[in-house]
Amino acid sequence: MSQTQENKTQDPKNRVIIFDTTLRDGEQSPGCSMNLDEKLRIARLLDDMGVDVIEAGFPIASAGDWEAVNEIAKALDNAVICGLSRATKKDIEASASALEPAKRRRIHTFISTSPLHMKYKLQMTPEAVLDAVAESVTFARGFTDDVEWSAEDGSRTEDDFLCQCVETAIKCGATTINIPDTVGYSVPEEYAAQITMLMNRVPNIDKAILSVHCHNDLGLAVANSLAGVQAGARQIECTINGIGERAGNTALEEIVMAIRTRNDKAPFHNNIKTEMLTKMSKTLSTTVGFNVQPNKAIVGANAFAHESGIHQDGMLKNAQTYEIMTPESVGLTKSELVLGKHSGRHALKDKIKDLGYDIGDNAFQDFFKRFKDLADRKKEIFDDDIIALIDDEVGRDHEKIKFKSLQIVAGTTGPQTAEICLDLEGVEKCTKVEGNGPVDAIFKSIRDIVPHDGATLQLYQVHAVTGGTDAQAGVTVRLEEDGKTVTGQGADADTLVASARAYIHALNKLLTKREKSKPQD
Ligand code: KIV
Ligand code: ZN
Repeated sequence: MSQTQENKTQDPKNRVIIFDTTLRDGEQSPGCSMNLDEKLRIARLLDDMGVDVIEAGFPIASAGDWEAVNEIAKALDNAVICGLSRATKKDIEASASALEPAKRRRIHTFISTSPLHMKYKLQMTPEAVLDAVAESVTFARGFTDDVEWSAEDGSRTEDDFLCQCVETAIKCGATTINIPDTVGYSVPEEYAAQITMLMNRVPNIDKAILSVHCHNDLGLAVANSLAGVQAGARQIECTINGIGERAGNTALEEIVMAIRTRNDKAPFHNNIKTEMLTKMSKTLSTTVGFNVQPNKAIVGANAFAHESGIHQDGMLKNAQTYEIMTPESVGLTKSELVLGKHSGRHALKDKIKDLGYDIGDNAFQDFFKRFKDLADRKKEIFDDDIIALIDDEVGRDHEKIKFKSLQIVAGTTGPQTAEICLDLEGVEKCTKVEGNGPVDAIFKSIRDIVPHDGATLQLYQVHAVTGGTDAQAGVTVRLEEDGKTVTGQGADADTLVASARAYIHALNKLLTKREKSKPQD
């Protein structure tokens, strides 16, 4: 990078705020729901990674959403914590109360502004929408001086009306103005022109930061966000792995690496520690049970793989022939061979810390036992094995149903049978059940001990945690009941044991969810 280029990039005017909405726009998409512990874990990682604003949820949506925003607000030190609210007093009050403990808080309020949404969704006149903009922003400013206003379906809004709304929101105290491409309809040139139009026509635009929020229905979310920033926006709203409504949102890892790699064309800077991107992506995909497609930019399994002979030859001569960014810059390192059956507690504790996890002393005792069991069966233990065990073991000591043992009869002669023992709050229960294959037998055996007829299996997915035939299996199970989904993970050298563990994990979450949704006395 030349000196002039570096000066341009570091210019405070070119600082781009990274606003992550994984826990709000991402979490509300089908199959991506997370419980409180999972949300806290994701929020802490986002904070460590240098995200400026974390949209932690939609507090009015449910008691669980309010609690998650509130706990995240208590737990984090660096990022601004944000809560979403429609343009109503009760929504804004819910955000304000949930965000109360945050060191720095933002209330985000929105209303639709496109002709289509105003007529059919809101059934409101433009005048009434404009009044609601003024009232909601003014009311939100009563709780915090950091207020964001969004024009839902902004990209399909008429210029004159959008200018009026933006000007009013800023006049009433909004400090960030967000223009969502809610339905992912815009194309880069058009979206950039809209941002330029607002910069040129709204008289008080210098009093607020313009923000881009793009959906990926046409696969253009990252391109549109970049175009918006090149036109003058200075906040990007995005999610890890691009999760979100329908085809998802702008993927944080993609937009951040596009800016870093093409700084000559996009001379902007942000606070993200890009070396954490791979870990962040893996943690989220394990948590929600959404695999990242292998050819996905930046974090897909093949993003840095070179298969063809010509490419491999070029890489050996000079990596830049086929690599525009290094794997290390996104935190992709080889899964190191770490420990074996002779490794002691200290070595394991150090490794866990190096991997960026903190599992506490009590949980460590059980974890050490799981590690030793694995080391007895698997000669080489890699970083990914340790991470899979952490995902399977940590934070589960309070669970009501615990896995004890499993014996399986499988194969061609059948009947395939599962004999399982579970611990139900200190009482051991065993059963033996036949099924149409071993996995069916296991899941039926768990249902036999803990009936849950209303729940259906939505997803059963197995992957090998590392290479080799002795690799651990990582299993994901998703259950659905009354429109609510829960996702469980299990890991073990035996795929069927991992399947039982994953199912039990999901079932425990389902029981907690049921309990939380019971009306309080
Ligand atoms: O896509 C959208 O319009 C949104 C707003 C609520 C910000 O997510
Ligand atoms: Zn959105």
